[in-house]
Amino acid sequence: MYSAKMPKGFLWGGAVAAHQLEGAWNVDGKGMSVADVMTVGSAERPREITDGVLPGKNYPNHEAIDFYHRYKEDIKLMAEMGFKAFRTSIAWTRIFPKGNESEPNEAGLKFYDDLFDECLKYGIEPVVTLSHFEIPFHLVKEYGGFTNRKLIDYFLRFAVVCFKRYQNKVKYWMTFNEIDNQSAFNNDFLMATNSGILFKDGMTDSDKEAAMYQAAHYELVASALAVKEGHKINPNFQIGCMINYSPVRPLTPSSDDVLLADKFEQRRDWFSDVHVFGEYPKEVEAYIERKGYRPDITDEDRVVLKEGTVDYVGFSYYQSTTVSSENVKPDELSDLAKAVAVNPTLERSDWGWEIDPAGLRLALNHLTDRYHLPLFIVENGLGAYDKVAADGSVHDDYRIDYLEKHISEMEKAVAIDGVDLMGYLPWGCIDLVSAGTGQMDKRYGFIYVNKNDAGEGDLSRSKKDSFYWYQKVIKSNGADLSK
Ligand code: BG6
Repeated sequence: MYSAKMPKGFLWGGAVAAHQLEGAWNVDGKGMSVADVMTVGSAERPREITDGVLPGKNYPNHEAIDFYHRYKEDIKLMAEMGFKAFRTSIAWTRIFPKGNESEPNEAGLKFYDDLFDECLKYGIEPVVTLSHFEIPFHLVKEYGGFTNRKLIDYFLRFAVVCFKRYQNKVKYWMTFNEIDNQSAFNNDFLMATNSGILFKDGMTDSDKEAAMYQAAHYELVASALAVKEGHKINPNFQIGCMINYSPVRPLTPSSDDVLLADKFEQRRDWFSDVHVFGEYPKEVEAYIERKGYRPDITDEDRVVLKEGTVDYVGFSYYQSTTVSSENVKPDELSDLAKAVAVNPTLERSDWGWEIDPAGLRLALNHLTDRYHLPLFIVENGLGAYDKVAADGSVHDDYRIDYLEKHISEMEKAVAIDGVDLMGYLPWGCIDLVSAGTGQMDKRYGFIYVNKNDAGEGDLSRSKKDSFYWYQKVIKSNGADLSK
């Protein structure tokens, strides 16, 4: 197994998002977010998005792992692992419960003051996402989410309040989590979480795709305005974008498969292109034009996009994507899901996610070539079922194996390929509610949380084998990956 010491100051740590672990969904003035109206699902059964909170339904994010009341214990465990950084998000609805208030909720602001202080006490840098699948439900219902231009102002107000309040505690920021995931516009969950859009029955694929381009444009403008204002508030801020990056592999070497892979990639990469270059790539403008969509993009917006480009590219990496032109030819590509094929060379997780460690090195090289900016791996990991042994231990060697292989590829990219990488923050460093399925039993953590999909368990925390392994990796600054 290849290993190398990472550069001095490399940010080893872990990542979470507010709605997936805090719980306390209606405590201290918090409002209802889109995550609060999502029921528990499974690998086979999608989460239901209900019209408000309905009686008799199981909403796993309402309690989650009660981090809101237990964060001191949890941050202490992360410090024990040697974390240098901890990525979380600020729940928009703790600060602006409905999203359109003119004044923020002080109790919500105070919670994050205390949380960031607790991190800093141990020398852990908070890395903060502003919008991570937690749009206020009021903005979803009454405004149509980000299809409405007014959301730009509401997001900017939220961002500026956070930047001002935490300017001396938080240096690393990201605006929208996995903004490019909505390229899968036919996925109701992704559209609700990314952009706060609830599609009405009877909408065609074209209606949905047009709505996605509009919402994404307003988000990109909101992000650019936030970057610009953030840099005024504190010029030392490092403000990044956040994408879900998945290198695209053609299933065969045929020209159609290779071109399809390129087109697929363009349809996802344009979000980060706009974040980094401050302008739309030509091929995407041509595509929008060809489809006859007329998004509201003003000349003033184009100036804003240029003025608010990001400092780094944050990304999640879970798996690569393989595409085949068997079902869709490159010129017909619209619904990306139709192009995806099973990669026969890769193993899959219990949730069907392909496991491709070499894909992480491809990702790091591709993003470096394209953007020439520092990169930050802000999510990576394996969702798996864990078994607790009679003595309370969890022997998660499969998780160690996954992380070891991915870290090894990451280290090749830094030490051999010269990639400028800020840090590595594996996802769900403490077990939490899965975003995609709402399950607790889809676990990513180094720290086990005693709670299952039915909501049973006393929420107690314990250390898995991977806890001690990751502690050793951090202590050696990546040089020791041995099991
Ligand atoms: C990313 C999200 O898509 O993947 C996280 O940013 C999410 O919020 C993670 O939890 C893993 O996905 P899942 O569905 O297994 O929770």
